[in-house]
Amino acid sequence: MQKRSFGTTKDGKEVFLFSLENKNGVKAEITNYGAILVNLYVPDKNGNVEDVVLGFDDVTGYEANPSYFGSVIAPSANRIGGASFELNGETYSLKKNNGENNLHSDDELGAHKRVWDFMESEDSVTFTLKNADGELGFPGNKEFKVTYSLDDENGLKIQYEATSDKDTIINPTNHSYFNLKGHKEGNIEDHRITLLASNYTPADAASIPYGDIVTVEGTPMDLRKEILIGDKIDTDFEQLNFAVGFDHNWVTDNYNGEIRKIATVKAPLDARIMEVYTDLPGVQFYAGNFIDPQDGKNKAFYGKRSGLCLETQCYPDSIHKPNFPSVVYGPGKIYKSTTIYKFV
Ligand code: BGC
Repeated sequence: MQKRSFGTTKDGKEVFLFSLENKNGVKAEITNYGAILVNLYVPDKNGNVEDVVLGFDDVTGYEANPSYFGSVIAPSANRIGGASFELNGETYSLKKNNGENNLHSDDELGAHKRVWDFMESEDSVTFTLKNADGELGFPGNKEFKVTYSLDDENGLKIQYEATSDKDTIINPTNHSYFNLKGHKEGNIEDHRITLLASNYTPADAASIPYGDIVTVEGTPMDLRKEILIGDKIDTDFEQLNFAVGFDHNWVTDNYNGEIRKIATVKAPLDARIMEVYTDLPGVQFYAGNFIDPQDGKNKAFYGKRSGLCLETQCYPDSIHKPNFPSVVYGPGKIYKSTTIYKFV
């Protein structure tokens, strides 16, 4: 574990970059600004090391970060229809930051733009953040805890914990954009993906799920057998037309609260292969369809589909969908989850 300065926020707070490195030359660098995964260096099968996540050189880049590169999103990832919800007889209003809906809690004031407290150990770093009752519109005095660790099997593990003194919505995720060729190498349509999901949650043109859980069978959403992303992403299929490509929640198979493999992504020629493991019920596979052209770290230039996200989560808009797994946590119901991005 090493720690160095990652710059100073516009409010004058110094933030840090923590490096975790294993014996195989995999290195993850994370900042306590937003608990963001900044760099992830991974050797390919010939030993060539590249940084496989999109990001910025210093904290100043992350103070803008319109695409949420590397971010931990909390309290609520993804969309809440109408940017409001009712809980225990009270109505709560959130920021309408995605048409009439709420996306990722708050683009300006969310957890990804806060300075988190930190605690280092030899092979992990833990970040904590408090959210007051009513902050961003969500009830409850909440505390979030996110631990990153890296093992010698090349697994980058992200563990989440959250408590609240009132019932509230807890549905955090990590919003890293992966490009397994290297973050500067452009489009991910040449990657292959497998998603172990027999169902998904179709959504309207604003990406709010209709509420039904539908089989992928016979549709371009069937990724149970490996596909080349570019072969399917622009299929003329209403769900793909709505979202300009893959940007949907898949209902991952064999959900029982235990960690299991849900996805595999491969760079061309299998040069790098990433597996995703989680104990959560869903994953938003977002193919970076809306990345605005922008400068990135180390003189990179990013654009549409320069990276893809596998955002492990509960399903979007669950608070309005009684048949979806609940996202309500509070006194006596602590939130805990684990996701692992593993390079094999
Ligand atoms: C959403 C996309 C959105 C992106 C960046 C993803 O989680 O599903 O629709 O463009 O985040 O905000």
